[in-house]
Amino acid sequence: MEEKKSNVTMDKIVNLCKNRGFVYPGSEIYNGFANTWDFGPVGVELKNNIKRAWWKRFIQEEPNSFGTDADILMNPNVWQASGHVQAFSDPKMDCKSCKQRFRADNLVEEHSKGTVSAEAMSNENLEAYINEHKVKCPHCGNFNWTPIRQFKLMFETSRGTIDGEKDVVYLRPETAQGVYVNFLNVQRTTRAKLPFSVSQIGKSFRNEVTPGNFLLRTIEFEQMEHQTFCREEESMQIYEQTKEKALQFAKDVGLKAENLRYHDHEKLAFYAKAACDIQYKYPIGWEELNGIHHRSSYDLTQHQNLSGKSMAYLDPVTNEKFIPTVVEYAIGADRLTLAVLCEAYDEETLENGETRVVMHFVPFIAPYKVAVLPLQKNLSEKAKEVLSTLSKHFMCDYDEAGSIGKRYRREDEIGTPYCVTIDFQTLEDNTVTIRDRDTMEQIRLKIDELVGYVTEKIFW
Ligand code: GAP
Repeated sequence: MEEKKSNVTMDKIVNLCKNRGFVYPGSEIYNGFANTWDFGPVGVELKNNIKRAWWKRFIQEEPNSFGTDADILMNPNVWQASGHVQAFSDPKMDCKSCKQRFRADNLVEEHSKGTVSAEAMSNENLEAYINEHKVKCPHCGNFNWTPIRQFKLMFETSRGTIDGEKDVVYLRPETAQGVYVNFLNVQRTTRAKLPFSVSQIGKSFRNEVTPGNFLLRTIEFEQMEHQTFCREEESMQIYEQTKEKALQFAKDVGLKAENLRYHDHEKLAFYAKAACDIQYKYPIGWEELNGIHHRSSYDLTQHQNLSGKSMAYLDPVTNEKFIPTVVEYAIGADRLTLAVLCEAYDEETLENGETRVVMHFVPFIAPYKVAVLPLQKNLSEKAKEVLSTLSKHFMCDYDEAGSIGKRYRREDEIGTPYCVTIDFQTLEDNTVTIRDRDTMEQIRLKIDELVGYVTEKIFW
């Protein structure tokens, strides 16, 4: 596997996350629960700020764009209509020697080193490739496969009020359907005219065949999905614009242009006109960051057919009635958080030869905006006064333990853009030093100027 930067590896990111309170292994005291991760105090701030940035860009700042929050558990007919019950599955093969399970398309992609595009292959062709090239099990090295079987990705649970009588319900595998079933509710209550967008951030669940790589592919994750309802004739233009907006957003939360690329899909769903991923160059190589999909009027038509309720939009000018086309932009909040962590990570050699690990987060998404650090413990009363002013405006950290140098290093490792130090001069003239994380330069400011200074610096 290729490395993104010489000093970033997934192991370093996982260790930093665990040791600094970004992300811990799920259910750790019970030896964990594979591919589940819990966000700690710093990680939850980071992920919330990423979600806030996304909401600001795609709902707050985008004209004609609205937010929703539909339930995770929905009427099972939703998943019938969407096709998930029938077709949401991956081709899996089990190694009969070591009992490990793999996705057949991944085996082909990895064996061919990406020269064969497995996404466009049928199961018969995948199996033929694996047999012809004697593709071995990546775990034990044997060539001893079961035939390909489709592996269902939706988690099932059950609901029943009478003992013994239970109905199957599903944990949603995407947030999109919650938006589709509410399309006319939103249109009616907002009086929006086409084109308009409806978005949702929320948990989704998938029983992945091969979860792994930390936050990249998990069984429970958060999605941020933006659906634009439009006329068919304007849909390809909106699709192209959505691709650009998605790429710009990824750059604006700190991902470098050279680590981002478009990947157009070769195999399209029968109803789709176009689909594209944006990929990010993680330390393990290029992986999908988000998807942009032209979904035609398929989902709304399916819901109309199964529910028997019209999903048509009435054009107030022409009086024409039709089912709109949908252009979707879908991104995982956890997968984006992982990309942001990988991109921000840096190891710098200082003049004295020491190495400092620093997370260069864009200030708006940094977990804490300011750390308040009294130079000595007997300055803590004044420091807490400053903290109480700043924490009304920003998430702040406070640390009075250890040498000031060590405290700066700790704040660098969690990416705090500004450290405010209270020293003896503060008691005399109400000024403090403020240190910039990236340049390590310090300036002196009046306490009264701090809120304005930081507000301007973190604006996004
Ligand atoms: N509604 C369309 C949809 O769900 P998708 O490409 O299956 O499309 C969208 O998922 C995004 O959700 C992906 O690009 C990825 O960022 C995120 N995602 C999907 N499965 C994931 C998983 N198992 N773990 C973490 N993130 C995932």
